Amino acid sequence: MDGQIVLVTGAGSGIGQALANASAGKGAVVHLADVAADAVRKAAAELTDAGYAAAAHVCDVTDPDAVRALTGSVIDASGRLDVAFLNAGINGVPSMLQPGGAIDELPFEVWRRVLAVNLDGLFHCLQQCAGIMKEQHAGNIVVTASTAGLRAEPRVSYPYVASKSAVIGLVRQAALELARFGVRVNAIAPGPVVTNIGGNGPRPASSVAAWEDSIAMRRWGHPSDVTALALLLASDDSSWMTGGIHVVDGGASALSQITSTTLPAPD
Ligand SMILES: NC(=O)c1ccc[n+]([C@@H]2O[C@H](COP(=O)([O-])OP(=O)(O)OC[C@H]3O[C@@H](n4cnc5c(N)ncnc54)[C@H](O)[C@@H]3O)[C@@H](O)[C@H]2O)c1
Repeated sequence: MDGQIVLVTGAGSGIGQALANASAGKGAVVHLADVAADAVRKAAAELTDAGYAAAAHVCDVTDPDAVRALTGSVIDASGRLDVAFLNAGINGVPSMLQPGGAIDELPFEVWRRVLAVNLDGLFHCLQQCAGIMKEQHAGNIVVTASTAGLRAEPRVSYPYVASKSAVIGLVRQAALELARFGVRVNAIAPGPVVTNIGGNGPRPASSVAAWEDSIAMRRWGHPSDVTALALLLASDDSSWMTGGIHVVDGGASALSQITSTTLPAPD
Protein backbone atom coordinates (compact mmCIF):
# COMPACT_ATOMS: atom_id res chain seq x y z
CA MET A 1 0.00 0.00 0.00
CA ASP A 2 3.06 2.22 -0.22
CA GLY A 3 1.91 5.71 -1.25
CA GLN A 4 -1.67 4.58 -1.84
CA ILE A 5 -4.47 6.96 -0.94
CA VAL A 6 -6.85 5.28 1.50
CA LEU A 7 -10.16 6.49 2.95
CA VAL A 8 -11.64 4.83 6.05
CA THR A 9 -15.12 5.69 7.34
CA GLY A 10 -15.91 5.04 10.99
CA ALA A 11 -12.18 5.45 11.61
CA GLY A 12 -12.47 6.94 15.09
CA SER A 13 -12.94 3.61 16.84
CA GLY A 14 -12.89 -0.17 16.63
CA ILE A 15 -12.46 -1.90 13.30
CA GLY A 16 -12.19 1.36 11.33
CA GLN A 17 -9.39 2.68 13.51
CA ALA A 18 -7.58 -0.64 13.18
CA LEU A 19 -7.96 -0.46 9.38
CA ALA A 20 -6.54 3.07 9.38
CA ASN A 21 -3.60 2.02 11.57
CA ALA A 22 -2.87 -1.08 9.50
CA SER A 23 -3.00 0.90 6.22
CA ALA A 24 -0.69 3.56 7.61
CA GLY A 25 1.68 0.83 8.77
CA LYS A 26 1.82 -0.43 5.16
CA GLY A 27 2.83 3.02 3.90
CA ALA A 28 -0.55 4.39 2.80
CA VAL A 29 -1.69 8.00 3.07
CA VAL A 30 -4.79 7.58 5.24
CA HIS A 31 -7.86 9.80 5.35
CA LEU A 32 -9.81 8.99 8.52
CA ALA A 33 -13.50 9.99 8.56
CA ASP A 34 -15.97 9.76 11.43
CA VAL A 35 -18.98 11.60 12.82
CA ALA A 36 -17.25 11.63 16.23
CA ALA A 37 -14.99 14.67 15.84
CA ASP A 38 -12.78 14.23 18.91
CA ALA A 39 -12.29 10.52 18.30
CA VAL A 40 -11.29 10.86 14.65
CA ARG A 41 -8.95 13.78 15.33
CA LYS A 42 -7.30 11.78 18.11
CA ALA A 43 -6.97 8.68 15.92
CA ALA A 44 -5.38 10.70 13.10
CA ALA A 45 -3.10 12.57 15.52
CA GLU A 46 -1.82 9.28 16.94
CA LEU A 47 -0.77 8.32 13.41
CA THR A 48 0.81 11.65 12.46
CA ASP A 49 2.62 11.80 15.82
CA ALA A 50 4.11 8.40 14.98
CA GLY A 51 5.34 9.74 11.62
CA TYR A 52 2.60 8.32 9.36
CA ALA A 53 0.65 10.27 6.73
CA ALA A 54 -2.90 10.76 8.01
CA ALA A 55 -5.68 13.35 8.01
CA ALA A 56 -8.91 13.59 9.98
CA HIS A 57 -12.28 14.44 8.43
CA VAL A 58 -15.46 14.97 10.44
CA CYS A 59 -18.26 13.49 8.37
CA ASP A 60 -21.71 12.09 9.05
CA VAL A 61 -22.22 9.43 6.38
CA THR A 62 -26.00 9.85 6.57
CA ASP A 63 -25.63 13.30 4.96
CA PRO A 64 -24.99 13.05 1.20
CA ASP A 65 -23.60 16.61 1.04
CA ALA A 66 -21.14 15.85 3.83
CA VAL A 67 -20.00 12.67 2.04
CA ARG A 68 -19.55 14.62 -1.22
CA ALA A 69 -17.49 17.20 0.69
CA LEU A 70 -15.43 14.40 2.27
CA THR A 71 -14.46 12.74 -0.99
CA GLY A 72 -13.89 16.18 -2.53
CA SER A 73 -11.40 17.06 0.16
CA VAL A 74 -9.63 13.71 -0.21
CA ILE A 75 -9.18 14.42 -3.93
CA ASP A 76 -8.14 18.04 -3.27
CA ALA A 77 -5.50 16.87 -0.81
CA SER A 78 -4.26 13.68 -2.48
CA GLY A 79 -5.34 13.82 -6.14
CA ARG A 80 -6.88 10.34 -6.25
CA LEU A 81 -8.48 7.58 -4.18
CA ASP A 82 -7.02 4.07 -4.36
CA VAL A 83 -8.81 2.27 -1.52
CA ALA A 84 -12.05 2.99 0.35
CA PHE A 85 -12.80 1.05 3.51
CA LEU A 86 -16.51 1.84 3.94
CA ASN A 87 -16.93 0.73 7.51
CA ALA A 88 -19.08 3.22 9.48
CA GLY A 89 -21.94 1.43 11.22
CA ILE A 90 -24.05 1.37 14.35
CA ASN A 91 -26.23 -0.99 16.34
CA GLY A 92 -27.05 -0.13 19.96
CA VAL A 93 -30.68 -1.22 19.53
CA PRO A 94 -32.45 -3.96 21.52
CA SER A 95 -32.21 -7.39 19.96
CA MET A 96 -35.42 -9.15 18.91
CA LEU A 97 -35.38 -10.99 22.25
CA GLN A 98 -34.96 -7.87 24.43
CA PRO A 99 -37.69 -5.49 25.66
CA GLY A 100 -38.61 -3.07 22.88
CA GLY A 101 -36.86 -5.09 20.19
CA ALA A 102 -39.65 -7.42 19.06
CA ILE A 103 -41.10 -6.75 15.63
CA ASP A 104 -44.36 -5.36 17.04
CA GLU A 105 -42.56 -3.15 19.58
CA LEU A 106 -39.66 -1.63 17.64
CA PRO A 107 -40.27 2.08 16.99
CA PHE A 108 -39.98 3.11 13.33
CA GLU A 109 -37.54 5.93 14.28
CA VAL A 110 -35.16 3.34 15.75
CA TRP A 111 -35.40 1.21 12.60
CA ARG A 112 -34.72 4.28 10.43
CA ARG A 113 -31.74 5.44 12.56
CA VAL A 114 -29.86 2.20 11.98
CA LEU A 115 -30.82 1.95 8.31
CA ALA A 116 -29.78 5.60 7.80
CA VAL A 117 -26.20 4.89 8.91
CA ASN A 118 -25.63 1.27 7.90
CA LEU A 119 -27.40 1.30 4.53
CA ASP A 120 -28.07 4.87 3.35
CA GLY A 121 -24.65 5.96 4.64
CA LEU A 122 -22.96 3.20 2.69
CA PHE A 123 -24.97 4.14 -0.41
CA HIS A 124 -23.80 7.77 -0.20
CA CYS A 125 -20.16 6.72 0.27
CA LEU A 126 -20.33 4.10 -2.45
CA GLN A 127 -21.80 6.60 -4.92
CA GLN A 128 -19.01 9.12 -4.38
CA CYS A 129 -16.13 6.63 -4.22
CA ALA A 130 -17.39 4.64 -7.21
CA GLY A 131 -17.72 7.83 -9.26
CA ILE A 132 -14.10 8.76 -8.56
CA MET A 133 -12.80 5.26 -9.16
CA LYS A 134 -14.75 4.80 -12.42
CA GLU A 135 -13.02 7.90 -13.77
CA GLN A 136 -9.64 6.64 -12.57
CA HIS A 137 -10.33 3.20 -14.06
CA ALA A 138 -8.83 1.80 -10.87
CA GLY A 139 -9.71 1.38 -7.23
CA ASN A 140 -10.73 -0.96 -4.48
CA ILE A 141 -13.72 -0.74 -2.19
CA VAL A 142 -13.95 -2.91 0.92
CA VAL A 143 -17.19 -2.72 2.89
CA THR A 144 -17.66 -3.89 6.48
CA ALA A 145 -20.78 -6.08 6.42
CA SER A 146 -21.42 -8.66 9.18
CA THR A 147 -22.21 -12.33 9.63
CA ALA A 148 -25.56 -10.93 10.88
CA GLY A 149 -26.27 -10.09 7.22
CA LEU A 150 -25.82 -13.69 6.16
CA ARG A 151 -28.42 -15.36 8.38
CA ALA A 152 -31.06 -14.63 11.00
CA GLU A 153 -29.52 -13.78 14.38
CA PRO A 154 -31.86 -13.54 17.40
CA ARG A 155 -29.22 -11.87 19.57
CA VAL A 156 -29.08 -8.87 17.24
CA SER A 157 -31.63 -6.16 16.36
CA TYR A 158 -33.99 -6.26 13.37
CA PRO A 159 -32.59 -3.16 11.69
CA TYR A 160 -29.00 -4.34 12.12
CA VAL A 161 -29.68 -7.72 10.48
CA ALA A 162 -31.81 -6.14 7.75
CA SER A 163 -29.29 -3.39 7.01
CA LYS A 164 -26.33 -5.77 6.82
CA SER A 165 -28.30 -8.13 4.55
CA ALA A 166 -29.00 -5.20 2.25
CA VAL A 167 -25.35 -4.10 2.43
CA ILE A 168 -24.38 -7.50 1.05
CA GLY A 169 -26.76 -7.06 -1.90
CA LEU A 170 -25.40 -3.58 -2.54
CA VAL A 171 -21.80 -4.85 -2.57
CA ARG A 172 -22.59 -7.64 -5.03
CA GLN A 173 -24.55 -5.31 -7.31
CA ALA A 174 -21.83 -2.63 -7.33
CA ALA A 175 -19.16 -5.25 -8.04
CA LEU A 176 -21.01 -6.22 -11.22
CA GLU A 177 -21.26 -2.67 -12.50
CA LEU A 178 -17.76 -1.58 -11.58
CA ALA A 179 -15.78 -4.61 -12.79
CA ARG A 180 -15.41 -3.27 -16.32
CA PHE A 181 -13.91 -0.06 -14.92
CA GLY A 182 -11.17 -1.97 -13.10
CA VAL A 183 -12.80 -1.27 -9.75
CA ARG A 184 -13.29 -4.14 -7.29
CA VAL A 185 -15.89 -4.22 -4.49
CA ASN A 186 -15.76 -6.79 -1.71
CA ALA A 187 -17.17 -7.12 1.79
CA ILE A 188 -15.77 -8.50 4.98
CA ALA A 189 -18.32 -10.15 7.27
CA PRO A 190 -16.95 -10.20 10.82
CA GLY A 191 -18.51 -12.15 13.66
CA PRO A 192 -18.50 -10.72 17.22
CA VAL A 193 -15.58 -8.32 17.61
CA VAL A 194 -14.63 -6.40 20.76
CA THR A 195 -15.24 -2.72 19.84
CA ASN A 196 -17.32 0.21 21.09
CA ILE A 197 -20.32 -0.71 18.90
CA GLY A 198 -23.56 -0.24 20.77
CA GLY A 199 -21.96 2.44 22.90
CA ASN A 200 -23.34 0.84 26.04
CA GLY A 201 -20.04 0.14 27.79
CA PRO A 202 -18.80 -3.34 28.70
CA ARG A 203 -21.15 -6.20 27.87
CA PRO A 204 -22.48 -8.26 30.79
CA ALA A 205 -20.43 -11.40 31.44
CA SER A 206 -23.47 -13.60 30.69
CA SER A 207 -23.79 -12.07 27.22
CA VAL A 208 -20.07 -12.49 26.51
CA ALA A 209 -20.23 -16.14 27.59
CA ALA A 210 -23.33 -16.81 25.50
CA TRP A 211 -21.62 -15.48 22.39
CA GLU A 212 -18.40 -17.38 23.14
CA ASP A 213 -20.41 -20.60 23.26
CA SER A 214 -21.35 -20.04 19.63
CA ILE A 215 -17.82 -19.31 18.38
CA ALA A 216 -15.83 -22.41 17.40
CA MET A 217 -12.58 -20.78 18.56
CA ARG A 218 -14.26 -19.81 21.85
CA ARG A 219 -13.17 -16.20 21.85
CA TRP A 220 -14.40 -12.86 20.57
CA GLY A 221 -12.49 -11.29 17.72
CA HIS A 222 -10.32 -8.21 18.04
CA PRO A 223 -10.19 -5.51 15.37
CA SER A 224 -6.71 -6.74 14.41
CA ASP A 225 -8.28 -10.13 13.56
CA VAL A 226 -10.11 -8.58 10.62
CA THR A 227 -7.56 -6.13 9.23
CA ALA A 228 -5.36 -8.69 7.44
CA LEU A 229 -8.36 -9.91 5.40
CA ALA A 230 -9.44 -6.36 4.57
CA LEU A 231 -5.92 -5.39 3.50
CA LEU A 232 -5.69 -8.48 1.29
CA LEU A 233 -8.95 -7.46 -0.43
CA ALA A 234 -7.57 -3.96 -0.93
CA SER A 235 -4.34 -5.20 -2.49
CA ASP A 236 -3.34 -6.56 -5.91
CA ASP A 237 -2.83 -9.97 -4.29
CA SER A 238 -6.63 -10.35 -4.60
CA SER A 239 -6.82 -8.98 -8.15
CA TRP A 240 -9.36 -11.64 -9.31
CA MET A 241 -11.64 -11.23 -6.29
CA THR A 242 -14.71 -9.04 -6.54
CA GLY A 243 -18.31 -9.22 -5.32
CA GLY A 244 -17.30 -11.58 -2.52
CA ILE A 245 -18.55 -11.64 1.07
CA HIS A 246 -15.63 -12.85 3.17
CA VAL A 247 -16.36 -14.23 6.62
CA VAL A 248 -13.94 -13.73 9.52
CA ASP A 249 -15.61 -15.03 12.67
CA GLY A 250 -13.59 -17.65 14.53
CA GLY A 251 -15.87 -20.33 13.07
CA ALA A 252 -19.11 -18.86 14.45
CA SER A 253 -21.09 -19.19 11.24
CA ALA A 254 -19.90 -22.78 10.77
CA LEU A 255 -22.20 -23.65 13.68
CA SER A 256 -25.66 -23.93 12.16
CA GLN A 257 -27.64 -24.60 15.34
CA ILE A 258 -27.11 -21.18 16.96
CA THR A 259 -30.61 -19.97 16.22
CA SER A 260 -32.42 -22.97 17.67
CA THR A 261 -30.31 -22.99 20.84
CA THR A 262 -30.88 -19.30 21.59
CA LEU A 263 -34.58 -19.03 20.76
CA PRO A 264 -37.02 -19.14 23.69
CA ALA A 265 -39.29 -22.16 23.96
CA PRO A 266 -42.88 -21.80 22.62
CA ASP A 267 -45.32 -20.09 25.03
N1 LIG B 1 -18.10 -5.20 16.56
C1 LIG B 1 -18.69 -6.23 15.97
O1 LIG B 1 -18.98 -7.27 16.61
C2 LIG B 1 -18.99 -6.16 14.49
C3 LIG B 1 -19.28 -7.37 13.83
C4 LIG B 1 -19.58 -7.32 12.47
C5 LIG B 1 -19.57 -6.12 11.80
N2 LIG B 1 -19.28 -4.96 12.47
C6 LIG B 1 -19.29 -3.71 11.71
O2 LIG B 1 -18.03 -3.11 11.80
C7 LIG B 1 -18.16 -1.71 11.52
C8 LIG B 1 -17.38 -0.93 12.55
O3 LIG B 1 -18.00 -1.10 13.83
P1 LIG B 1 -17.17 -1.32 15.17
O4 LIG B 1 -17.58 -2.62 15.72
O5 LIG B 1 -15.74 -1.01 14.95
O6 LIG B 1 -17.90 -0.22 16.09
P2 LIG B 1 -17.37 1.13 16.76
O7 LIG B 1 -18.58 1.73 17.39
O8 LIG B 1 -16.20 0.84 17.62
O9 LIG B 1 -16.91 2.01 15.51
C9 LIG B 1 -17.84 2.53 14.59
C10 LIG B 1 -17.44 3.96 14.23
O10 LIG B 1 -18.39 4.45 13.25
C11 LIG B 1 -18.67 5.79 13.58
N3 LIG B 1 -19.97 6.21 13.06
C12 LIG B 1 -21.20 5.90 13.56
N4 LIG B 1 -22.14 6.54 12.89
C13 LIG B 1 -21.50 7.28 11.94
C14 LIG B 1 -21.95 8.19 10.95
N5 LIG B 1 -23.25 8.48 10.80
N6 LIG B 1 -21.02 8.76 10.12
C15 LIG B 1 -19.71 8.48 10.28
N7 LIG B 1 -19.23 7.65 11.23
C16 LIG B 1 -20.11 7.05 12.05
C17 LIG B 1 -18.65 5.83 15.10
O11 LIG B 1 -18.50 7.15 15.59
C18 LIG B 1 -17.48 4.91 15.42
O12 LIG B 1 -16.27 5.63 15.53
C19 LIG B 1 -19.66 -1.43 11.52
O13 LIG B 1 -20.13 -1.36 10.17
C20 LIG B 1 -20.25 -2.65 12.20
O14 LIG B 1 -21.57 -2.89 11.83
C21 LIG B 1 -18.99 -4.96 13.79
